[in-house]
Amino acid sequence: MALSVLSLASEAVPLIKTGGLADVAGALPGAVAPHGVAMTTMLPGYPSVMRAIGKGRLLHAYPSLMGEPARLVSATLGDHPLVVLDAPGFFAREGGPYADPAGHDWADNWRRFAAFGRAAADLAGGAIKRKRFDLVHAHDWQAAMALAYLRFAPADGGRAIASVITIHNIAFQGYFGAEVFPQLGLPDSAWSMHGVEYHGGVGFLKAGLEAAGAITTVSPTYAAEIRSPQFGMGLEGVIMAHENRVHGIVNGIDTALWNPETDRSIAASFGLRSLARRAPNKRALEEEFGLEQDDGPLFVVVSRLTWQKGMDVLLEVLDHLVGIGGRLALLGSGDAALEAGLHAAAARHPGRIGIRIGYDEPLAHRMQAGGDAILVPSRFEPCGLTQLYALAYGCVPVVARTGGLADTVIDANIAALGAGTATGVQFDGVNYHALRAAISRTVALYQQPDAWRTIQRNGMKCDFSWARSGKAYADLYASLVT
Ligand code: ADP
Ligand code: GLC
Repeated sequence: MALSVLSLASEAVPLIKTGGLADVAGALPGAVAPHGVAMTTMLPGYPSVMRAIGKGRLLHAYPSLMGEPARLVSATLGDHPLVVLDAPGFFAREGGPYADPAGHDWADNWRRFAAFGRAAADLAGGAIKRKRFDLVHAHDWQAAMALAYLRFAPADGGRAIASVITIHNIAFQGYFGAEVFPQLGLPDSAWSMHGVEYHGGVGFLKAGLEAAGAITTVSPTYAAEIRSPQFGMGLEGVIMAHENRVHGIVNGIDTALWNPETDRSIAASFGLRSLARRAPNKRALEEEFGLEQDDGPLFVVVSRLTWQKGMDVLLEVLDHLVGIGGRLALLGSGDAALEAGLHAAAARHPGRIGIRIGYDEPLAHRMQAGGDAILVPSRFEPCGLTQLYALAYGCVPVVARTGGLADTVIDANIAALGAGTATGVQFDGVNYHALRAAISRTVALYQQPDAWRTIQRNGMKCDFSWARSGKAYADLYASLVT
């Protein structure tokens, strides 16, 4: 009989997305299905989710869930079951899932995601009739409290259940003041160093890490990095304490959505044996961004505009990039200061740098199809998906050697070029000199068409589908359910 898993996420493609978590949570049910896992996903009922599911089927009604009326409603996410927490007082708001339209975190995030965790714990623990699960899989701090509720405050009639928590980004921890503790509905015993208490406040991610049967993160290198203060961001001690339960499983990509041979959002489809058909995509992108057309390299960036992503360092090297014959098309949104800096760079280099501020999924596909190389100068990167999409689309990734970027790109050094295995360019340390040198190296490689085509083809041959990682998750689940 299939193993029944409840996956708890705060976003999932195609219903709600701010970053890679949505891609992963959306693809996971299909990734584990061939390995005997029946996965149900649970999401908060944001406006986009409620619009997409329509009425759904009522599973349970709460007169008051942490102060708001709420309902659990079942629907579908693609071919797989979905449960939505419909709680308008918490989720029916314009703005993002975590922040208001001005970009400030919602002040009641602790209550919104504690409520999500409470309802998820009721469902996972079997307190809500008609559903039963063998294991609960929580993603990031927004889902982590489910594991704390299952541990410290299981619902009446609930039972113990195996659990996994996945860290998609340890920088986001869901840390709140001690004053929220009495309102969480947890017993006093939860207020301890090995419970939910963290540096004198409440740590949602910390509480989940302490309660989980297994901890995963989204690449082997990041799994090693978060043992150190530089990457662990204060949680390195917790990670070390549970070290034998920490696994690094690299993300896959959904090849039904990201495949240059079938992608409907790009100007011309192409594949490994028809690389020349990338050209119309490059021309279309130049036109879309108002860039001069020439045969030099077109760099692209598709990113949140944040310090994590090294976008401040990117700004510093743009004059150099243009100076050696490069052009840049950038799609992103985030920090206002970075946006302003990018606009200034575009104004300095009309026709050479084009900027699109905002969030645009089809454009992200067109950029992977039309760009020659994608820049990913992240200071840390748990996995990173944009370099995986780039590999699949023949857009050469130029990446910092950290986290999943280190694990998924093979640097075009002399040995790898000689062996014919290179798939991109890596550099050490996110600073002006390192990124500048990497861009120069990329331009030099681009000027050797045979070597460049080999790098593109090597990337396109890589298998970053979910096949292997889907099995890795399924094996982990099976090992935890006895
Ligand atoms: P992170 O989750 O840290 O932002 P990832 O590389 O894992 O980084 O995932 C980012 C995802 O978000 C990718 O699917 C990427 O294409 C997408 N993305 C990022 N910024 C934008 C944007 N401005 N418009 C469209 N898609 C974007
Ligand atoms: C986070 C990380 C990113 C990862 C994504 C999906 O947003 O920043 O590196 O790819 O989660 O796991």
